[in-house]
Amino acid sequence: MSRELLIATAFVAGLSSVAAVAQNNVIAERQQLMKQNLQANRTMTNMLKGTEPFDLAKVQATLKGFATDYHKLPGLFPPGSETGGETRALPKIWAEKAKFDQVNADFEKAVSVASAAIKDEASFKVEFPKVVANCDTCHDAYRAPRR
Ligand code: HEC
Repeated sequence: MSRELLIATAFVAGLSSVAAVAQNNVIAERQQLMKQNLQANRTMTNMLKGTEPFDLAKVQATLKGFATDYHKLPGLFPPGSETGGETRALPKIWAEKAKFDQVNADFEKAVSVASAAIKDEASFKVEFPKVVANCDTCHDAYRAPRR
């Protein structure tokens, strides 16, 4: 092998291992995004149950967090991140990415509708569960059960 070819081969091999690390990072990033929102959602569940006092500012902050985080979601499933990092993302996401992105857009829409509609505890109890129903819709279609 010529020296140039050796260098070129080493360079390509280096690039693909960099790519592998990047894909693992993107998997960790989307899992982290989900986890932090589950945490925020726990407080909301407690407010719905009445085990934590209703707090409009916390509700609106949670919705704002959902809006910011989930806006990034479609970009966290690039080609090549189908496997690795104990991902539970189903291959269907990449087979029908536009549809997956639409499910996420529907979630974002529900978040903005709820954000405008929630003014007090009564409207919170009606509107917030509609937002969370969208989490389940996406998981049912695109996430594998826990192993
Ligand atoms: C558009 C689809 C979609 C929406 C909307 C969505 N999720 Fe997810 N969620 C996923 C997918 C796909 C995974 C699997 C990610 C992976 O393992 O790579 C996941 C994983 C998770 C996990 C496990 C993370 C881990 O540690 O592995 C939690 C918790 C979670 N979601 C919570 C939520 C909550 C709470 C909401 C709503 C506020 C939500 N998700 C909305 C698609 C979605």
